[in-house]
Amino acid sequence: MPVPKTILAIFSGAIAVAAGIWIGQNVNLLPIEASENAPVYDELFRVLFSIGTVLFVGILGLVVFSLIKFRRKSGDSEDGIPLEGNLSLEIFWTAVPAVVILFVGIYSYDIYDRMGGMNPLAHGASHDHQAIATQERVWGGIGSGSISDKADSTISPLPIEVTAMQFAFLFHYPEGDIISGELHVPTGRRVNMRMESKDVIHAFWVPEFRLKQDVIPGQPTILSFTPTKPGRYPIICAELCGPYHGGMRSTVVVEKPSEYEDWFNKNSKIPVLET
Ligand code: CUA
Repeated sequence: MPVPKTILAIFSGAIAVAAGIWIGQNVNLLPIEASENAPVYDELFRVLFSIGTVLFVGILGLVVFSLIKFRRKSGDSEDGIPLEGNLSLEIFWTAVPAVVILFVGIYSYDIYDRMGGMNPLAHGASHDHQAIATQERVWGGIGSGSISDKADSTISPLPIEVTAMQFAFLFHYPEGDIISGELHVPTGRRVNMRMESKDVIHAFWVPEFRLKQDVIPGQPTILSFTPTKPGRYPIICAELCGPYHGGMRSTVVVEKPSEYEDWFNKNSKIPVLET
């Protein structure tokens, strides 16, 4: 007795879903996680990757199945059967993507919020207008604490001024009056960057931090993050900014607090006050 088609269809669907979820959770396409919000971002990525894989496996499976099953038999030159739509099918393939998109939208918002997107000065990154309006206040030293921030709240955030120009990034540390072409940051301390461009729009991107923020002329943007893993990671300009855009790269060096301290004291133009 042949297996009913519905059972076969449900079974193949289940295989596609299982394969998608397995691949989404076990295949890692992302670089290492070197900032506090990287694991949060990756959680969303894994879910989106799972959904994408389910669709890819399901659609590709159906295409291959149709290629074999509905292949023209030799000698058959007749027209195909006339089809005039199928209401229940229409409802099904409208409802399923609607639910998926709605879920992805709400979940993305939640992740964005957890990364501090709604309150970028506390933790995370954003293009938020409010951030730009309130940045001067915070830049003046009034750090806003975040409950979700796992960094030691007794350490004040590290302020860094970033200047982008064709075709380089410059990092200025107001605390030690250091100007560097390489970004040095310690682990476990929140970094508050105030970024501005001298000419055109650039973008500051560190894949290992899962952070990207435009750097705009005449309108400073704020980027806040807490590095977690020591190492050297690329800083890449992610906005087409001219003929040497591709060469507009730098490095962020994440160091243990003691090593960072050494680097800072060696380069600081302001004498270190012994306490
Ligand atoms: Cu600066 Cu691309």
